[in-house]
Amino acid sequence: MMRCDATVAWTALQGHYEAHGRDFDLREAFVRDPQRFGAFSLQAPEVFADLSKNRWDLATRRLLVELARECGLEARRDAMFAGEPINTTEGRAVLHTALRAPKGAAPHGDEVHEVLDRMLAFAERVRDTASSGITDVVNIGIGGSDLGPQMVVPALEAYGQPGLHCHFVSNVDGHDIAPVLKRLDARRTLFIVASKTFTTQETMANAGVARAWFLAQGQTEADIARHFVGATTNLAAAAEFGIHTTFGFWDWVGGRYSLWSAIGLPIAIAIGADHFRALLAGAHAMDRHFAETPLEHNLPALLGLLDVWYRNFHRFGSRSVAPYHQGLKRLPAYLQQLEMESNGKCVDLDGQPLPYHTSPVVWGEPGTNGQHAYFQMLHQGTEVVPVEFIAVKRPTHEHADLHAKALANCLAQGQALMLGKCAEAALGEKAPTASPDLDREVLARHRSFPGNRPSTTLVLDQLTPRALGALIAMYEHRVFTSGATWGINSFDQWGVELGKALCNNLLPRITSGDASGLDGSTAGLLHHLTR
Ligand code: F6P
Repeated sequence: MMRCDATVAWTALQGHYEAHGRDFDLREAFVRDPQRFGAFSLQAPEVFADLSKNRWDLATRRLLVELARECGLEARRDAMFAGEPINTTEGRAVLHTALRAPKGAAPHGDEVHEVLDRMLAFAERVRDTASSGITDVVNIGIGGSDLGPQMVVPALEAYGQPGLHCHFVSNVDGHDIAPVLKRLDARRTLFIVASKTFTTQETMANAGVARAWFLAQGQTEADIARHFVGATTNLAAAAEFGIHTTFGFWDWVGGRYSLWSAIGLPIAIAIGADHFRALLAGAHAMDRHFAETPLEHNLPALLGLLDVWYRNFHRFGSRSVAPYHQGLKRLPAYLQQLEMESNGKCVDLDGQPLPYHTSPVVWGEPGTNGQHAYFQMLHQGTEVVPVEFIAVKRPTHEHADLHAKALANCLAQGQALMLGKCAEAALGEKAPTASPDLDREVLARHRSFPGNRPSTTLVLDQLTPRALGALIAMYEHRVFTSGATWGINSFDQWGVELGKALCNNLLPRITSGDASGLDGSTAGLLHHLTR
């Protein structure tokens, strides 16, 4: 495989950036080409994408596709779907796509469908609250064993079961679990201990707290078997904890790619078996699109390549995600793990240091809330931050006036970022809140917008399980595309290890106050916290 900076296309992109990229003006591009929207928008399964408000032209797109081909993106993608061990540092296959494939269409179909059927049958029994007696489900997990379900459950609230509440406990800080436990009735609660490894400090500590609380409510060890279930690859450790009902998964499912597996149990309980299958089917439709569509029309591939263009040529350091649907409020947090844990790497597959940047910072909040917080910086700040808007055409509520306002705001922000406003235009405006003492031209400069700020708009018809499945899979494959182009391993996460090891060393010192051998700052802080 060719490293991206050694390709012909990379050099061509550098030249193209100097000649046409650095000073590319979106407003002029639309004047030059009235068909630009059509040329840069596409319909993938469940997701329509307008990529026309990005700083690229047809030549950029062509060169980016050539770059992907030279880097072997298609071969790497095919190797992933075929179950080859592309996670080379851990010697593992990467087969989250097999979790949503129909039986017989991908490797490991028998195991996958055996667990899926069993898990969905269990979920249906829990949802039958009259006979299960369960009113509250508490998912205890962190990272990939938390963020997916925590994002999907509220997103699909419209498909929820009345009288059944899902809670998510992840943080080792006791302020997370304490208020949740206060609201629960042990006899009516189901705890899901979700951990791929069943060794994660936070999850094991919170599971231990939940277990002790459960027994303190007058429940017995035997009740634990009925009120605690596990989602894990480590069945032995779950059994040791006293968990008898376990839904397994496999080492070829990365934590941040695991919501389609047993880790999706809270989702299945919340939305039911049929809707969970629809979520999987939507993801599978996007998998087929990614696997089969030529890169020129392949939405995840184009998004990933645009990320490379922005990160390595324009040198934009971050991307902001703004879903104009309150149900997607946890999507930015979910994408932070998906993108930054996958592609926040500084060595290539051979362990060689990279001379180019990888993952941008991904951040955001739902619109319109973000507009009243940080959009100021997006419009007038000194850094260009590409923004990704997500609009949903049809709401699941009845407040048509609110929906119209949400959509108008979404469109207006993308428009404002692109069009901006020159000082001359600002000069002609009234500004009732401006100081009367301020010079008019100075005020106009404060009230002007540079514009030419790029954005992508993704549109779903409705936030259905199928559409959400397709959207999430689109993000997974986009991350795959940029990671494969950068020549990194998107499927390991060695960067989380050092902090864990140092924490183990510090933990006894929190009680003893022993600061011997520590660096000056850590010793000073330990003293301050423990004296
Ligand atoms: O610390 C990072 C990490 O390993 C993530 O990659 C993972 O999603 C999370 O911890 C939780 O791990 P587990 O599911 O094994 O508890």
